[in-house]
Amino acid sequence: MENETRYLTFALTKGRLAKQTLELLEQVGITCEEMKDPDSRKLIFVNEERKLRFFLAKGPDVPTYVEYGAADIGVVGRDTILEEGRKIYEVLDLGFGKCRMCVCGPEQARALLNGQQQIRVATKYPNIAKDYFYNQRNQTVEIIKLNGSIELAPIVGLSEVIVDIVETGSTLRENGLTVLEEVCPLSARVVVNPVSMRMEQERISWLLGALNEQM
Ligand code: PRP
Repeated sequence: MENETRYLTFALTKGRLAKQTLELLEQVGITCEEMKDPDSRKLIFVNEERKLRFFLAKGPDVPTYVEYGAADIGVVGRDTILEEGRKIYEVLDLGFGKCRMCVCGPEQARALLNGQQQIRVATKYPNIAKDYFYNQRNQTVEIIKLNGSIELAPIVGLSEVIVDIVETGSTLRENGLTVLEEVCPLSARVVVNPVSMRMEQERISWLLGALNEQM
């Protein structure tokens, strides 16, 4: 009985992913009118009928909320899941927010990737870059952490290559850069707290099933 009164809490990634997630939730009959008010300063939104709560967070914080159980469920990009390395279950690929994590640079850098010389790799995703170069390519590199506009790094000589997200490829093209290697495909994923998965199995399974059917 206790389970029926407990709120199931969702952490959504602020921005486009949250918008697309809410649209998908609406298709399975879960609405949150409060969340649509652009003037609202509220941080938490409630669907009383279904005992659901939603909040918006920055992408990298979503796995943190879910690992600690402050949110039962999260929606976040696979890039963030891989980078954060939290103890959470990744349970569903929502199929939107599709893009790729790639090693990029000027065409001339391709030779350096296969050479003996140690190269510098600028990225917002040091853990993904480290895993790719050290564990998959067995290549020692220097990783340089940046916080945005990563494409600048090889242009101004900070690094030879970058590891970054490529969606349409237009940022690369406009800056004379190209994809040199693909690290992995990315998209929006549903993540679940391991304890919630056991304790709220029925409600979570229903929800995942309903979302899956919509895709
Ligand atoms: C992302 C990414 C690339 C760009 C790729 O940056 O880091 O720069 O989008 O998209 P495209 O292939 O469609 O051009 P974002 O706009 O999120 O900002 P950032 O550079 O500050 O990370």
